[in-house]
Formats: sequence, structure tokens, C-alpha cells
Amino acid sequence: MTELVVRRLLIDLDTPLGRHWFGGDAFRTAFFNALSMSFPVGEQFFIDSVRNGYKALPLEQQESYRQEVQGFIGQEATHRRIHGLFNAHLEKQGLVNAWAPRAQKRMALLEGTDPRHALAITAANEHFTAIFAEWMLANHDLLDGAEPRLKTMWLWHSAEESEHKSTAFELYRALGGSESWRLAWFRRVTWIFLSDALRQTVNNLRRDGTLWRWSTWKSGAAYLLGRRGLLRQAYGAWRDYFRADFHPAQQENRHSAQWLADNAGQYSLVGR
Ligand SMILES: [Fe+2]
Ligand SMILES: [Fe+2]
Repeated sequence: MTELVVRRLLIDLDTPLGRHWFGGDAFRTAFFNALSMSFPVGEQFFIDSVRNGYKALPLEQQESYRQEVQGFIGQEATHRRIHGLFNAHLEKQGLVNAWAPRAQKRMALLEGTDPRHALAITAANEHFTAIFAEWMLANHDLLDGAEPRLKTMWLWHSAEESEHKSTAFELYRALGGSESWRLAWFRRVTWIFLSDALRQTVNNLRRDGTLWRWSTWKSGAAYLLGRRGLLRQAYGAWRDYFRADFHPAQQENRHSAQWLADNAGQYSLVGR
């Protein structure tokens, strides 16, 4: 069991965001904006999946998960709220969120199905976010050019993703979820996540007028595929999910604990 605390982030999200808030870099701004656009809808889905999975547990087992599930829901609900504020600025800039409605259509197809499907999807997405989070925290200097309040927002979210990465996975296991479903959903989620992220990034760049600039894609290639690139460095951790003895807790999380310790002044603890 993981003890999860809910934190209130103490940053200003009233002041409008710079159009290229990520160090003046069009690609990185568009990519992070795209991810943020998926969060309010995606994280609500994770909350519902975990809540439904918890309710499907036999009563005598529920107690041992109660606190962790509450913490998970509290953290994701806070992320939704903060990214909702962030996304409202993007809308004012003229960006259009096409990812969320697409995701909502897919989610509607799951209604009434075995709750383990939604949990397997959530566990797969949580693995994605956890490896992305740990990569971002390990390479936090890559965010140095970003507006400081936004750097804090992304690293706070990353740290909490790393903290609660086991919750959906453990509930899936506790409900007797099969290995074949777990891996099938992970393959499907990988494809859907990467293609949705790319489509929304391109959409954002097109509306920003920077889609056809050489500098945009040069930066994109370096950020994703360069020596310290996300896709290059996270590939091994992505592949680990296919191992029969995989558990999210095996994955690195020292950067998240370090960030939370070093940045205690950036948040307050809720309910403490
Ligand atoms: Fe989150
Ligand atoms: Fe999460």
C-alpha cells in the first residue's frame, strides 16, 4: 500500500500564459499543451475506473485499499482542476482541443463492460505517465527556460504521478485481471496515446502558425529522439511493462521524492 497525500499547489494560474511559455520553443510548448488538453477528461476516467474497481472488490478487501484509493482520487482531482485552469488560457489563445472529445467517444464504448477493462486501460496510461514523469524529473533542467510557475506545475504533477503509479495496477491484480488483457490494453493504449499526442501537437502548431518551420521540428526531434530525448530514454521502461513479473513499484521514483522534498514551499498539504 502506498500512502498518498493530496497537495494544493501554490502557483499563480490567473496570469495568461505566454504563447510559447516553454522557453520560446514552439514544439515543446505545443507538445505540453497537447498533453494538458488530455488531462481533465483522461484523469476523470482514471478516477472513475479506480473508484469502480474498488467497489467491485469484496468488502473485506476494500478496507486495505480505502486510503490509497482516496489519495489517488484526491491527487487526480487536483490535477484535473489545475490543468482545467491552464487549458482555459490555451482556449483564449485560439487553440482547439480535439483530443478530449475523441477520447470521450472511445470511453463511451466501455460503458457497461467489466470494470477490469477500464482499470487495465488506466494502469497502462499510468505507466505511461509515470515513466514520462520520472524522465521529466530526472531531466528537469530541460524545463529551465519555461515560465517558472509552469515548470513547478509540470514537476508537481510528475512527482504525484510517480507516487500513485501502482494504484490502478494493484486493483487490477486484486480483481483477478488477466495478463493477456493487461498486455493487449497496453499495446492499444500505446498506439492511441502516441497518435493522439502527435495529432494534437500538430493541431496546436498549425493554429500557432509554426507547423512548417524547420526550427519547430528540429527542436521536436531533439526533445523526443536526441541523446536525452524522451522516447529514447523511456523506451526501456516502456518495454518493462511486458514482463510477467512487472510491478510499477520496480520503476525508479527517487527523482519524484527528491523534488517533493526540495519544493515543499510550493504546495500545502490538504487535510493536514
Ligand atoms: Fe494526474
Ligand atoms: Fe495518474
